[in-house]
Order: sequence, then C-alpha cells, then structure tokens
Amino acid sequence: MALAPGLVLVTGANGSGKTNLLESLHVGTQGFSPRTRSDTQLIRQGSTAARIELSGTRGPTPVSVAVGLSADEPRRARLDGAALRSAEQLRSELVTLVFTPDRLAIVKGGPAARRAYIDRTLARLYPARAHIPIDYATAVGQRNAALRRVSLGLSHRDVLAPWTAQVADLGAMLTASRRDVIELLQPGFGERADELGLEDALLGYAAEPPTIAALEKRLDRDIERGITGIGPHLDEIAVRSSERDLRTFGSQGEQRLAVLSLLLAEAELIALRRRVPPLLLLDDAFSELDENRRRILSERIGAVGQTIVTATGTEALPLAPAQLLRVTPGRVEIS
Ligand SMILES: Nc1ncnc2c1ncn2[C@@H]1O[C@H](COP(=O)(O)OP(=O)(O)OP(=O)(O)O)[C@@H](O)[C@H]1O
Ligand SMILES: [Mg+2]
Repeated sequence: MALAPGLVLVTGANGSGKTNLLESLHVGTQGFSPRTRSDTQLIRQGSTAARIELSGTRGPTPVSVAVGLSADEPRRARLDGAALRSAEQLRSELVTLVFTPDRLAIVKGGPAARRAYIDRTLARLYPARAHIPIDYATAVGQRNAALRRVSLGLSHRDVLAPWTAQVADLGAMLTASRRDVIELLQPGFGERADELGLEDALLGYAAEPPTIAALEKRLDRDIERGITGIGPHLDEIAVRSSERDLRTFGSQGEQRLAVLSLLLAEAELIALRRRVPPLLLLDDAFSELDENRRRILSERIGAVGQTIVTATGTEALPLAPAQLLRVTPGRVEIS
C-alpha cells in the first residue's frame, strides 16, 4: 500500500486497529514501540512472530526497512537489505516523532517525564551527545552504590572521590546539553504555541550543574541516605504559558496544545538540521481541541512533511487530507 506524502488521515471505529497501524510504523522506522518494551505485546496473540516491511524515501533517496519480531529471539532489523547490530540502531538513521495521549505526561506528569523527554530530544538533535544522559545515570548509580557501602562501613569515604568527580563532570555536560536543547526548541515552541492560542509559552530550566564542592558539602547527608541529593537527575523543567505553570494550571486542551507545539518545534528543527523532515505520527491528537485549533494544527502539520493522523471520523480534520485510509479489524483501505 502506498501512503501519500503530506497529511494522511486514518479513520476507523474504536478498537479497529488505528493505533496498531501507527505503532507498526513506529516499530518499523525506529525499532521500538512508544508503548511497550515487550515484543509479545506487539505480536498478534496466538502467533509467535511478526514482521514489518516498509519502503519509502529519505529526502530524495529511496530507503527500505524490515523489522522482525519473535517471541523468543531479539528483534532484528535490516536497512536497505543490510542487517543492523540492533533494531534500535534505526533510531540514528530515521527519525519518527510520535504523539499519543500518553505523551501528555510531558506536560502533566512529574519532573522525570520532562527530563526524559528533553534527554530523548537531545539524542535526536545532537546524536553525538546521546550517550551523556546514559553515562550520567550510570555515574550516579555507581556513586549511590559507593555511598551505601560507605554508610555500611564496607568502604572508606575516600573511594567516593572519583565518583563525585564523574558526577560533577557528566552533570555539567548534561546540564549544558539540556540548556542547548531548550534554547533550540524555545523559539519554535513559542511560535507554534502562540499560533494555537497559548501565549508566551516558555520552557523554564534554571538548574545549576553539581560542582565537586557542592557535592562534597552535602556528603554526610548523601552517605546517610545512600543517594546523591543534587544534580540533573533531580532537575525540574517547567512548561509555562503567560507565567502559568501548565502542569498545574493548564486545561486539558492547553496541555495537549503544549505537547503538540513541542513536537512541531522539534520536527521543524530536525527538518532543518538533517535536511529531511521526520515522519510524524499523531494518534488521537485532535480530541479535546476546538475547531479553530484543529484547523490551525492541521495546516501546520500538513506543512512539515509526511504526517499520519488518526481519528474515529473524518470530521476531526477540518481540511481535506492528501489521503484517507479506512481501518476495519485486520484491514486498511485507501478511501
Ligand atoms: N498483540 C495483539 N494481538 C491481538 N490483538 C491485539 C493485540 N494488541 C492489541 N490488540 C487489539 O487490537 C484492537 C485494535 O486496537 P487499537 O488500539 O489499534 O484500536 P484503535 O482503532 O486505535 O481504537 P481507538 O479508537 O479506541 O483508539 C484492540 O481490540 C486490541 O485489543
Ligand atoms: Mg487508538
């Protein structure tokens, strides 16, 4: 089946398989599901394997991908016929951005959801820095283990110094990288949000990196509790509009608009930096939005590149899509 470039609308009744279709496009282009880490959930119940094959273009160049899932083997992926070391390697080759209602957690969830979002965006915008959040988390984990050994009297506190230095070093890199990501995202985020009626939308990040001196100053407390009590693993990133924190004071629709504005800002940055727009997958993005906002949003997403949007009916989209797909259980048809 050939999907049109531009805006593709996928309609179907509840439970017909729209989300399944989007999820398969995500697994097929990124090597993982935005919903689950378990392959058995992705394979049809009663089967032991599944396969996704896609072909398309990356900018002007044709590209083909095949991802194989099996109940008892690791995922396998091929890009243009060549086997990849791991399916997740697809992430560094192709970019797909997804909105699902779960992603509202970026605005309404706790600070960890926003940190994770900014760190994943860091990996997409600066692939060479993708290792920083992972290395920092490892350093904090190792320092915490060392703190607990000291508190149990199994090690001398001198052993902590190298871990403290690493946490300070990687913490400074992570804080600076998050600042860079936020600085890059902010202008587009503010513009897209403004278009959608969220005034003066701002990403607030005021964190200071953990210095060795600051970490040592609180060493007694950290040893007592067995955890590193300062650093970017505890940072808060605020999403505000007209000085209101949208986590607490945003309406459902405003929280959704903020997440979609972030996604659009990132899509535009990726298109600019990689010279290829990402594939956008928007599951149930339009519910809770008034007609005016649905119209502005559909015009904007239609301009980014290829976007696949789901809704239960065609009335969700106030303009004609480039292509309309109808999903019934087990079938997708071009309408
Ligand atoms: N691994 C699986 N094997 C078989 N069926 C599954 C599997 N995973 C999900 N399903 C079923 O597929 C059906 C379609 O689900 P899907 O979430 O894609 O529907 P949808 O069209 O997005 O519905 P809605 O409009 O409610 O969001 C559901 O009934 C679900 O239980
Ligand atoms: Mg669905």
